Amino acid sequence: VDLFISTRATHSPPSTPPYCYLENLRAGSVGSAVAYSLLLRQVVADIVLIDINHDLCRAQVQDLSDATFLSNVRIRQGTLEDAQKADIIIITAGAKQKPGDTRLALVDRNFKVLKSILQSLQPIRSDAILLIVANPVDILTLFAQRLSGLPKGQVLGSGTLLDSIRLTRILASKLKVADTSIHAFVIGEHGDSQSVAWSTATVHGTPLLKVLPLTEAERDEIATTTKKKAEAIIKVKGFTSYGVAAVTARICEAIIFDHRQVLPLSHWQKEWDCCLSLPAVLGRDGIISSFPLSLNESEQAFLSSSAQSLKKVIAEYAE
Ligand code: 2OP
Repeated sequence: VDLFISTRATHSPPSTPPYCYLENLRAGSVGSAVAYSLLLRQVVADIVLIDINHDLCRAQVQDLSDATFLSNVRIRQGTLEDAQKADIIIITAGAKQKPGDTRLALVDRNFKVLKSILQSLQPIRSDAILLIVANPVDILTLFAQRLSGLPKGQVLGSGTLLDSIRLTRILASKLKVADTSIHAFVIGEHGDSQSVAWSTATVHGTPLLKVLPLTEAERDEIATTTKKKAEAIIKVKGFTSYGVAAVTARICEAIIFDHRQVLPLSHWQKEWDCCLSLPAVLGRDGIISSFPLSLNESEQAFLSSSAQSLKKVIAEYAE
């Protein structure tokens, strides 16, 4: 299996010292962490990394290759031709959130980066899966669907899988059970308009709110902590990488082994003609289907307003 990871960073000229280097390094931090997760999990046989900063990419590959003894996964620096042959193309490229910024604030810069990558990738293999990790992930996933020409199901975004994992961790620690015993979804935008589908959350089939009777204020607090987790990390270390990398490895695993796992991922929604996260069945062909979630009225309203806030941004970029 070929795997191409674009860690392509920014379009700033490489000669802009020293800030640009830091930016590039930060941009490369997600792609290299994804490679590291894939490598440790032995999800693929081959990983190819590409970055606009060739020296940084070479150094990341050199460093990562020191870890391949654990798994025999091959890793190398690649070219756009490699990407054209890849089974899964992961796009982590782009500017990162600055402390206090929303993910949506990145749309201008990262849309340009995405557009230029997708133009250079043509022709993409018609059965390739395009996995968008860069932010704002929902908007970029929609644009990637439009620009790549691939069937919509083959273009997906990491979406709120990470937020759902963050939420599950909090609930699991309150209940003192394993994370895997809890099924709870954050839905909508991977960003400020996301919400928790509390009414559908279960602990091994029993409604979560029955085993953990949270007040509305407690639920709000948990939802806010979940939503603000990235912000809290970014405030101190400048970026997040390990969580999103582990999530990306999990998504690749489900694709490569055709797991048909139900995961909250950003994918196209006919109702709003935008991409946002709802549970979906993931397999070798990408998003096989959206999985129905019976939301109550207020959850449905939150979801619609999340879609509307994404659509407002999309409208500004109407081609
Ligand atoms: C995260 O949630 C910043 O989207 C990134 O970790």
